[in-house]
Amino acid sequence: MAITKLECITVEKTNGITWVMLNRPEKRNAMSPQLHYEMDETLRDLETDPETKVVVIGGNGGYFSAGQDLKTFFRENEKNPAGRKRAAEAANRWRWERLYKYDKPTIAMVEGYCVGGAFMQLLATDFAIAAEDTVFSLSEVNWGILPGALVSKVVADAVLPRHALYYCCLGEPFDGKEAARIGMVNYAVPKKKLKAETIKLAEKLMAKSPAVLRATKHAVRQVRTMDYDQSYDYLAAKGQAIKVGDPEDSYNTGLSQFLDQKSYKPTFQPFSTKGAAPKAKRAKGTKKKGAAIDSRAPRFDDRSHNKSDRETSTMKTRIVLSVLAAAAVASAGPACAQFYKGKRVTMLINYAAGGPTDIEGRIVARHLQNHIPGNPNVIVKNMGGGGGMIASNFLGEVAKPDGMTFGFFTWNVVAGMIGDPGLRVKYDKFPFIAGIANPVVFYVRNDTQPGLKSGDDLMKASGFKACALNARNTNAIQMGLTYDMLGLKYKLVPGYQGLKAVEAAVLKGECQSANSSLPGWKGSIEPTMGKEVVPVFQLVAPDDGGKIARASAIPNIPTFEEYYARHKGGQPKGMEYTALRKIVDTFMAMFRTSFAAPGAPKESVETLRQGFRALWQDEKFLADYEKRVKNRPDLIVGEEGEKRIADLSNIDPKLAQYFKGYIAKISQ
Ligand code: COA
Repeated sequence: MAITKLECITVEKTNGITWVMLNRPEKRNAMSPQLHYEMDETLRDLETDPETKVVVIGGNGGYFSAGQDLKTFFRENEKNPAGRKRAAEAANRWRWERLYKYDKPTIAMVEGYCVGGAFMQLLATDFAIAAEDTVFSLSEVNWGILPGALVSKVVADAVLPRHALYYCCLGEPFDGKEAARIGMVNYAVPKKKLKAETIKLAEKLMAKSPAVLRATKHAVRQVRTMDYDQSYDYLAAKGQAIKVGDPEDSYNTGLSQFLDQKSYKPTFQPFSTKGAAPKAKRAKGTKKKGAAIDSRAPRFDDRSHNKSDRETSTMKTRIVLSVLAAAAVASAGPACAQFYKGKRVTMLINYAAGGPTDIEGRIVARHLQNHIPGNPNVIVKNMGGGGGMIASNFLGEVAKPDGMTFGFFTWNVVAGMIGDPGLRVKYDKFPFIAGIANPVVFYVRNDTQPGLKSGDDLMKASGFKACALNARNTNAIQMGLTYDMLGLKYKLVPGYQGLKAVEAAVLKGECQSANSSLPGWKGSIEPTMGKEVVPVFQLVAPDDGGKIARASAIPNIPTFEEYYARHKGGQPKGMEYTALRKIVDTFMAMFRTSFAAPGAPKESVETLRQGFRALWQDEKFLADYEKRVKNRPDLIVGEEGEKRIADLSNIDPKLAQYFKGYIAKISQ
């Protein structure tokens, strides 16, 4: 029966904290059956109360609780087993089942007396702060019973066995400082500071993501009684559950605020849950809303900062910004600005955090949001696996085509060419936004037998392992084709989940050689394993004149063609080389590709293209990119990219057959 009037407890709500206080101070807040019923119902209701963020359990009059009411709970129920059972059920339910698994954080604010049965709520709450002069006592032994209900159990679980035995068997009182020392409470403070300290802790808890906090507290409690295998499973499932059910998308928001916006340090504080709201405040220094491309801004190929780079670059900037396109952009300006105004856009990265795609994607995301008209909040979501295909399948099949999700992928050209069934949505079905060129660097451990002084010595090595992503991935195929053409004696080990995993394998000596994009080489491999590995050669797309020349960022690493000529004489040719160039010419010119979901509104695609174009004029972005990758990135936007993607479907059937055979061979 619902309780209409609270007689034994009080409930007060202030600024997200709900104070639930036992209210029988004249009985030192001893707990009567009626009090238990009121607590049970109240806690049940507060668990879903939107105003309640944190629950504090305390007692009025300066007393936490003198335990079960010896008169009304015990004596008066001696001859009333039904009443006793009902009261005991309610008592145990709120003091243990409810509080232990409560969906919101709970704090015990302890003062005066904490005796006997009150240890149940003391230890069921997530946190406890005590006044230093609180009197704690496991008094049961002193009046003739053992610490019942679950008191013996929860005390034994909470503190070291000797403390549990000592205080349960002797029933000696101890103070708040001793309670803190033995781990019965988090800390003890002078009584006059107790409330302020409780509020301080509650405010810290309220600053966290509620979904993550809830999962974390449940996890810490549940794994105590599980073995390691069960814990792995439980924690993995719980982790997935947060990602699905978290309205704040805490994982991506937290990473984005740290990695992209650089607005906080997770070691010291939580991410801002305000930033997680759809209408997040723009980061300091971002442009005013509606900032569109300035028609007076220099054309991309007129960038003064990059003149010498451009002259020596192997890949001339391929920006398609025709007068027509510029006019379209200008006319689309105000409408575009409206499209993303106040929105949150997800940039899906198809490899795990920390890898080269992620490094580059996060630099782009950090600056891109300042250039997309309407200034949406761009958050990054990593979705690795399947050689990058899981994320593109997700974008193609699951993501809403509303313009609010776009991909930043290292795409899989070969899968596109041969119609790999794992790639369920063909690349030409995705509206193309932009592509970034990148060369690829091959590298090898210098302790590879017989010991390498430079990349040239790789020709002397034999029996080494080259690790790569899955056999259907461009990364593995280009590894195999180049090393085969050089006649190296090696074993290809495909199947790694991402390039970060590949790097780790090389670092551990699990394999000796691998390849990675320029951002991976400059941003991760060179800085972390520069002493352990040497570069071998680079693969680059030809420039507009068809010339294959070293990328300006890595002028000391020979091209594959140079390396081949040096060791084998002449230029590589034959089917292997034709296949290799087919990949390289398409892939490296647009190594990272940004796609919208199929069916996304034209307006959104054009607005995002506009954002990318403007981004490439932003000195701050270019400098940031150059700092990590040591190169100024080349961009393809618009028709040129679309044409390259369309060409994938027109591959010579003989070549497609060759790729299939080669994949089958390296899969074995
Ligand atoms: N059950 C029933 N009544 C209790 C009670 C309890 N657990 N604890 C205190 N009371 C009552 C007292 O009987 C007294 O009632 P009265 O005014 O009708 O006589 C009133 O609360 C005040 O208690 P009192 O002992 O006078 O106050 P105090 O401040 O001097 O001492 C305690 C407080 C808590 C130290 C003392 O009351 C005590 O030891 N209580 C027993 C606590 C206990 O063992 N609880 C275990 C239950 S599992």
